[in-house]
Amino acid sequence: MAGTFYVTTPIYYVNDVPHIGHAYTTLACDVISRYKRSRGYDVYFLTGTDEHGQKVEAAADANGETPLELADRVVKRYQALWDKLNISHNDFIRTTQERHKRAVSEQFRKLEAKGDIFLGEYEDWYCTPCETFWTETQLLDGTCPDCGRPTTKLKEESYFFRMSQYQEQLVRHIEENPDFIQPKSRRNEIISFIKEGLRDLSISRTSFSWGIPVPGNEKHVIYVWFDALSNYISALGYPEDKDGLYENFWPVDVHVIGKDILRFHAVYWPTFLMAAGLPLPKKVFAHGWWTVEGQKMSKSLRNVVEPNMLIDKYGVDAIRYFLLREVPFGLDGDFSHSSLISRINSDLANDLGNLLSRSTAMLGKYFDGVVQSPDHADEIDQAYIDLFPLATAKIDKLYEDMAFNKVLQTIWELISAGNKYIDETAPWALAKDPAQQGRLGRVLYNLLEAQRLIALQIAPFMPETAEKILALLGVDPKANLADNDTWGALQAGSKIKKASPLFPRIEAE
Ligand code: MSP
Repeated sequence: MAGTFYVTTPIYYVNDVPHIGHAYTTLACDVISRYKRSRGYDVYFLTGTDEHGQKVEAAADANGETPLELADRVVKRYQALWDKLNISHNDFIRTTQERHKRAVSEQFRKLEAKGDIFLGEYEDWYCTPCETFWTETQLLDGTCPDCGRPTTKLKEESYFFRMSQYQEQLVRHIEENPDFIQPKSRRNEIISFIKEGLRDLSISRTSFSWGIPVPGNEKHVIYVWFDALSNYISALGYPEDKDGLYENFWPVDVHVIGKDILRFHAVYWPTFLMAAGLPLPKKVFAHGWWTVEGQKMSKSLRNVVEPNMLIDKYGVDAIRYFLLREVPFGLDGDFSHSSLISRINSDLANDLGNLLSRSTAMLGKYFDGVVQSPDHADEIDQAYIDLFPLATAKIDKLYEDMAFNKVLQTIWELISAGNKYIDETAPWALAKDPAQQGRLGRVLYNLLEAQRLIALQIAPFMPETAEKILALLGVDPKANLADNDTWGALQAGSKIKKASPLFPRIEAE
């Protein structure tokens, strides 16, 4: 076993239905999980839903249903989408589950007993959509500095968490652990936020009731972010840890989140953990946001991209590929139908699809589909073969940085080099000369063996496509990368059928 690996998505609010933004975060976690598993890691991949708080209560009211009815309904939408997207999570946590509520109450009690939570009074400007309090000076023309919507003045009795106590310790931690917040550009933003001064944080509400009650004072419900963030340990069975998951997997290797919720993960959550005496996450990675055809995605603009429809139209692997190929993970990106179609046509139908159909067609034509033995390698063969271990090492490194688009770029360099290798070795010319039979067999072997390795590398991104290619090559489709990543495992003598097109070309509408 290479070690353990724990990765989490944010838990999604149930007052909204899933769109490509949510699918993107989850997909990234899925790719890294599949990759780590293929490298021999014991992986725990967690996702789930965030079901408490004023926003959910208000959405349920507006629909004439209870918050739990709303949650039960929307949770199904998330779960169905994750099935359809081939998401390989190990657990799905809902914050309304007993296991979670117990852990949150326990955590609250523990910090209160320690004196890090105390009862006080609050008077400040509250932004309901963001569920965040702001001071007068933080407001921008009276509106929320994060989302620009109106705020209202609230005065209430509230429990506070002594976040201010942890300011120094947190800055030190961030400075001493350069990988803690990624990408790097986001790190400075957080450091300057902290250095402006951390105030004690209001962590209870009395203005609504849909939440986990404060232990011993049921007038209050626990602040939704204190509740939600704890999912990352409650799902592991904290604090009882009956199954030993917490012991095995905490601290988490990476929390993958969108840039909008970095402050909660890189400031609030670590200070809660410090107060509880628990180890901090190893890494928090904030990815960028998708716009659609150049515009912010929003219900009012009616441009919310619905993943189910895309999958039905283009296929699950094409969508998985596109979302992680198009934009460097960490930067903002734009979703457009034309770029999706051009990626499908050029990268998938042309580059990947043609390599497979050309080489299997030639094997069929010249050797009746039987793989020949490669007794030696000529210089041009060796040059191609040598690209593979180099690419594998490079890809390992790129995954460490979550540079998914560069991983795909590196794999596609192998694919392009394969198509070029066909052009340069010109098998159709070799086929005309009986003296070149051995050479022809070798060239085709190399092409097919290359695609075995390519299929293993694309598997985390496009699991169905990888399975199809591996099955066609007569390789166990569940083969993992760790045991099979060296050149030469394809068996001479096995029989391979001509591939049908992996990705049909799409005509632009
Ligand atoms: N419930 C909180 C998270 C609690 S985690 C302890 C939440 N939920 S959310 O449903 O609003 O958002 C979940 C994730 O979706 C966030 O990481 C957010 O960045 C991501 N996205 C929402 N819209 C997005 C885009 N348009 N583009 C990319 N990601 C987006 O926040």
